[in-house]
Amino acid sequence: MLYSPVVEAAPEDRPAPRMSGPALMVIFGASGDLAQRKLLPALYNLVQKKLLPDDFTILGYSRTPYTDEEFRALARGGVEKYSDAEFREADWQRFAQGIFYLTGNYDDAEGFARLKARIEELDQSRRTGRNRLFYLATPPSVYEPVATQLGRADLVHPVDNSPTGPGDDHSWTRLVVEKPFGHDLASAHALNEHLLSIFDEDQIYRIDHYLGKETVQNILVFRFANGIFEPIWNRNYVDHVQITVSENIGVEQRGGYYDKSGALRDMVQNHMLQLVSLVGMEPPVAFDAKAVRDQKVNLLRSIRPLAPEEVSHYVVRAQYSPGDLDGERLPAYRDEEGVEPDSTTETFVAWKLEIDNWRWNGVPFYLRTGKAMPQKVSEIAIYFRRAPHLLFDSADDPEHISRNVLVIRIQPDEGISMKISAKQPGPAVKLQPVNMAFQYGSSFGATPPDAYQRLLLDVVLGDGTLFTRRDEVEVAWERVTRVLDGWKRQEEEARSGGAPLRLPTYDAGTWGPDAAEQMLRVENQRWRKP
Ligand code: BG6
Repeated sequence: MLYSPVVEAAPEDRPAPRMSGPALMVIFGASGDLAQRKLLPALYNLVQKKLLPDDFTILGYSRTPYTDEEFRALARGGVEKYSDAEFREADWQRFAQGIFYLTGNYDDAEGFARLKARIEELDQSRRTGRNRLFYLATPPSVYEPVATQLGRADLVHPVDNSPTGPGDDHSWTRLVVEKPFGHDLASAHALNEHLLSIFDEDQIYRIDHYLGKETVQNILVFRFANGIFEPIWNRNYVDHVQITVSENIGVEQRGGYYDKSGALRDMVQNHMLQLVSLVGMEPPVAFDAKAVRDQKVNLLRSIRPLAPEEVSHYVVRAQYSPGDLDGERLPAYRDEEGVEPDSTTETFVAWKLEIDNWRWNGVPFYLRTGKAMPQKVSEIAIYFRRAPHLLFDSADDPEHISRNVLVIRIQPDEGISMKISAKQPGPAVKLQPVNMAFQYGSSFGATPPDAYQRLLLDVVLGDGTLFTRRDEVEVAWERVTRVLDGWKRQEEEARSGGAPLRLPTYDAGTWGPDAAEQMLRVENQRWRKP
């Protein structure tokens, strides 16, 4: 036969949705914010959608004493408040009968002995298949002790013997680690070494919630499922790339945490470099964990490393000063609760990043992120080279009007749009930019699900594609630590000159300091207004 016709599969022949088998998830830090706001609502949604089985079992573990019933009541509050699905009593009852709780410390053998006994009891009563998922929703200071205790209590199966793996009972053990994953290269490396002395790399799922966002996953589909973009996705056609992740809140109650972190560690090292790697990577040979992550790590390795003395040229940092934000007055960052009065922690970063490879050489990637900016928005804008010769009058600024810009909007108003030039109606030929747009909401009639739903389901299914591998985390930290070293040097120089460093400021409610505008102005560019 020379050809076979395309036949639509009958509904019963279509592949089953991604439904997981039984498992027990232990949430360390179960009484905390992350569990209540994100994890429990996402798990409830997955059970409601029947993507997790009814007998999926959750065992909360933290220091605050609760009974099972009290913890269920707490969890219910979180689900009712934060779930993006409708709360239905019958679904809740189904979900709640699989929730349990154990009080214990994170670093004592006695607590972990009780944990082991409880897990084994639940293995029997809930038929978990001995599949175990340990989720570190705790402060990072206890990641290492928890992993140590899990190892000592013999709760970690030596290999991931999932159905495709080599184990005899087909059960698996996995560990999920939240950010911050270290605070510089040395600490990230030490944490990796420690976890890898207890778990196998394939058992460790490092969460970056940006990778669970629908529009972030759409970057790969957009690039590699459409024939027309890849040929122009390079230095021959792209002029530069702008990535903006702005937030219209101050540090709120997180001043204590944030002051030790700052925008570079909090947003750039993880979320923004992940976006850079997805936009810039070469096509993977398959859509699987190894192939995708191999290409991402190659791209991260191509980011030009900065010497300490170059940092001030490529990276701008600043702190917000008092200003109006959504009708409210925000104090200066240094006056926020939990922040040191002489803090030099940045609440804004802009970085001109150069990528040294054949695809991107000479195409700057401009990154900016900050708190207390006018809008909450995450977007990637690909600026194409302008038409080589402009034949027509334009209303203003021919440089910018003749340039096509492709905008991948990650949030809010998820979608993708392309700015093109069109003729204004009327007797004269006057140009005006217009948009061709795909909007997630109107095309699919739904808002995208919360990132944690996708990521939690992937962990249970054993798919690591959307999680960061050890080498990715470390190479990202390597480039970021160079910036931190440059800043340390600036601080030392200021101190030795007798004047402690003060960062440039920007008024809360504005798009950042003038130095960030200047970074683009000198290149005859400007930041896109989202
Ligand atoms: C977190 C940061 O990782 O991401 C927060 O620690 C930030 O400071 C948050 O507010 C932003 O996430 P999202 O999904 O709201 O863009």
